Amino acid sequence: MRILVTGGAGYIGSHTVRALIEHGLEPIVLDDLSRGHREFIPEGIKFFERSILDTEFITEVLVREKIEGVIHFAALSNIGEDSRIPLKYYSVNVGGSVSLLSAISAAGVKRIVVSSSAAVYGLAKKDVIHEEDECAPVSIYGETKLIMENCLRACSNQKYSWMALRYFNAAGAAEDGKIGEKHNPETHLIPLALKAVMGSGNPLTIFGTDHPTPDGTPIRDYVHVDDLAEAHVAAILSKESGVVNLGTGSGNSVKDVLDLIEEITGTKVPMLIGTRRAGDPPKLVASFDRAFQILKWKPRKDIRKIILSAWNWEQS
Ligand SMILES: NC(=O)c1ccc[n+]([C@@H]2O[C@H](COP(=O)([O-])OP(=O)(O)OC[C@H]3O[C@@H](n4cnc5c(N)ncnc54)[C@H](O)[C@@H]3O)[C@@H](O)[C@H]2O)c1
Repeated sequence: MRILVTGGAGYIGSHTVRALIEHGLEPIVLDDLSRGHREFIPEGIKFFERSILDTEFITEVLVREKIEGVIHFAALSNIGEDSRIPLKYYSVNVGGSVSLLSAISAAGVKRIVVSSSAAVYGLAKKDVIHEEDECAPVSIYGETKLIMENCLRACSNQKYSWMALRYFNAAGAAEDGKIGEKHNPETHLIPLALKAVMGSGNPLTIFGTDHPTPDGTPIRDYVHVDDLAEAHVAAILSKESGVVNLGTGSGNSVKDVLDLIEEITGTKVPMLIGTRRAGDPPKLVASFDRAFQILKWKPRKDIRKIILSAWNWEQS
């Protein structure tokens, strides 16, 4: 089965490309390399350096390459940047998704799986978030992901089946240390803390120690990127439509993560204590019951494995 992977030169996309190959599927990558890395695409994999906004080109590729499914990662995803350049976020995340949907409709592709995000829920009111909980994004990024989901729902019209995977915090790296998290700028806790430990980044800033959580730091649900990749393989092979959370059902506080990083690296994380950020929810943890029910997916790698693999990647 031939799968077009948009954003396949990025962090989660490149791990998924590897997983697709391991499962005997045939990925083809389309990425404009605006945030991705050419060297993350395995040798021998067909690659088109193009934007998802180029509907005509994508339609042509879908037809010519006899693509049967599309996994759509390509997006801008930096919260902070989204409010500085909102139109760019609407253009790539909403306009790009519309462009891709137009192409798959024109080419008659029957299956699409897209990257959505915990950001669609906004300030969660529950301890553990389920898919039917209210979506009320508080960032432009989260809003663009929700609009993308709505477009999929509105346009599918039984022409294609679709699944939007709402990831919580993707983290970790491939076991062999050859691909891993490499955003620029990096905003995620684990790579920032590891870079601070190595002296290759600034001291880590912790945004508030007065959150309503047991140790005062926010709790997030970290999912190993290899587990996310496996979920995409299951999702592209499924025919079900709808939204599915990818989380672990439990979370770790910023302090838990930093304690574990110090234990694993044997080094104190250089850090500064900042103030709470507006709109930063104290706890974001997802139920994976639906993912298990529909995709038979459950997370396999815990927070220790996440940090060990990320540490291995940062050192290599
Ligand atoms: N990393 C996370 O924790 C996380 C959490 C929730 C959702 N997501 C979503 O998962 C997806 C992948 O995230 P990531 O962390 O791998 O990001 P990433 O930035 O590493 O990868 C995104 C890729 O998309 C490409 N891209 C951007 N604009 C493009 C365009 N116009 N045309 C073609 N390619 C384009 C970039 O070059 C990059 O390779 C994104 O949709 C993101 O919103 C990520």
